[in-house]
Amino acid sequence: MSRQSQLGVLLAAVLLPLAVLAQDKPVDAGPYVPSPDSAVAAMLREANVGPDDYLIDLGSGDGKIVRTAALVFGARGLGVEIQDKLVEQSNEMAKKEGIADRVRFVKQDLFKTDISQATVVTMYLLPQTVNLLREKLLAELRPGSRVVSHDYSLAGWTPQKTFEMDLEEKVSISGITRTVIYVYVIPAKVAGNWRAVLPALLAAGPMRLDLRQEGTTVTGEALLDGSKLPLADARLVGNELSFRLAGREALFRGKVTGAAIEGTVELRGKSLPWAANRSG
Ligand SMILES: C[S@@+](CC[C@H](N)C(=O)[O-])C[C@H]1O[C@@H](n2cnc3c(N)ncnc32)[C@H](O)[C@@H]1O
Repeated sequence: MSRQSQLGVLLAAVLLPLAVLAQDKPVDAGPYVPSPDSAVAAMLREANVGPDDYLIDLGSGDGKIVRTAALVFGARGLGVEIQDKLVEQSNEMAKKEGIADRVRFVKQDLFKTDISQATVVTMYLLPQTVNLLREKLLAELRPGSRVVSHDYSLAGWTPQKTFEMDLEEKVSISGITRTVIYVYVIPAKVAGNWRAVLPALLAAGPMRLDLRQEGTTVTGEALLDGSKLPLADARLVGNELSFRLAGREALFRGKVTGAAIEGTVELRGKSLPWAANRSG
C-alpha cells in the first residue's frame, strides 16, 4: 500500500466515527432558561393561538409554553426537549393540570423533530440556533403557520409583527429588561413565472410576472403591454401577496392557492378583480 493510501485509510478510520458521533449527538440549542410568564402570555396572544392550533415548542424546558397554550388558549401541543428530567416534569405537570390528553412532551432532538403538523412553532433558543432552523421551518411548515421567537429574530425574514416590553426578570437572563416577541407567518411559495389577466382599465393584454423569493422576501418584475416594470412594496404574509408596479399607482392584492393567485387591484378608487396562473 502506498503512503498516500495508508494515510487515506488512517484518516477514514479516525474521521468516520467522529462524523457519526457528531450526527448522533444533539446540537445544544441553548441552556434551560424558562421564558418569564408574561413573555409566554405575549408569545401566545400575539400569535393568536386558539383551540384550532397545534403548537410545537422547540426546546420546551419545563413545558410552560405548551401547557399555557392548552390551559389558557385551548390549543393542543407538543414539547420537544433533550433533558430527561424536564420532559418528565412537563408530563407530570400536564397530568396534574388535566391537560395530558391535549399536550405531550417527548425527549427528542429539536433539529430532527417532524414539525409538519404544527400550526404554530415557538422557540426561545440561542440566536444562531433560530437561524439554523430557517430552512427547516420553510420546508416543513404549511403556508400560514406562525413561528414565534422570543428575543431572537430570523435573519432576512420580515416579521408579520413584533411586540416589545420591559421585564425585570430578564435582567438576570440577558442583562437588560428589553424583551421582543417576533411573529412570522410561513409564506406561500411564489417564485417562478405567472401569467396574469388584468382588468381592461389597466392593460390591453395579459401580464407576465416573474417572481423571486427568499424566505418572506419577494422581488421580481412584470411585463405589461411591452414595458418591464420592477415590483415595488412587495409583501407576502402567508398566502397573502401584495405589490405595486414601479411608476404605476395600482395596488395588487391576491391570495395564493397552489398554482393560482386571485385578488383585486385597487386603481383610482376602484377595486377590480385580477387573477394569475403559474406558467413556469
Ligand atoms: C431557553 S430554554 C427555553 C425553554 C422554553 N421553551 C421556554 O421558553 O420557557 C431552551 C431549552 O432547549 C433545550 N434544548 C437545547 N438543545 C436542544 C435540542 N437539540 N433538542 C431539544 N431541546 C434542546 C434546553 O435543554 C432548554 O430546556
